[in-house]
Amino acid sequence: MFRSLASDTNEPIELCINGQLQRVPAGISVWAAMALSDQTTTRIAPVTEQPRSAYCAMGVCFECLVEIDGMPNRQACLVRVQPGMQINRQQITEQTQAEAPSNGLQQPIAQHSAAQPLGQTQPQVDDLATEI
Ligand code: FES
Repeated sequence: MFRSLASDTNEPIELCINGQLQRVPAGISVWAAMALSDQTTTRIAPVTEQPRSAYCAMGVCFECLVEIDGMPNRQACLVRVQPGMQINRQQITEQTQAEAPSNGLQQPIAQHSAAQPLGQTQPQVDDLATEI
C-alpha cells in the first residue's frame, strides 16, 4: 500500500510495532515505519473508540499519537525511528486517563523540577504554613 522513495538507500533497522518485529529503513519517521508495516492505526479515539491514523504528516493535527518506549502522546510523524524502538498503538480511554498517576508515567511536574533533586520530598502545606 505504501512505498518509500528513499528506502532503497537507507540501511534497515529492527524495531517492534505493536509487538511485531519489523525491519524498516533508518531515518524514516515512526509513522512511515508503521505505514510500511501495514499498521496504519496510530491510536484509538478516547471518546468514540474509533481507530485513527496520521492525517497531516507534518506535526499539526495530532492524529498520529502513539506510545513509544512506554511514553504516550508521541507524534509518530515527527519522531525518527531508532533501533530497538517499541512502538505501540495508543489506547487512552477515559478509564486509563483516570488511572494514569498510578502507573508512574504522568507524575506532577514538581517531582521532576531542577530545583528539587530526585528523592527529596515536597514540603507539605502544613510545613509552609508554619514557616510563614
Ligand atoms: S499526522 Fe498530523 S501531527 Fe502527525
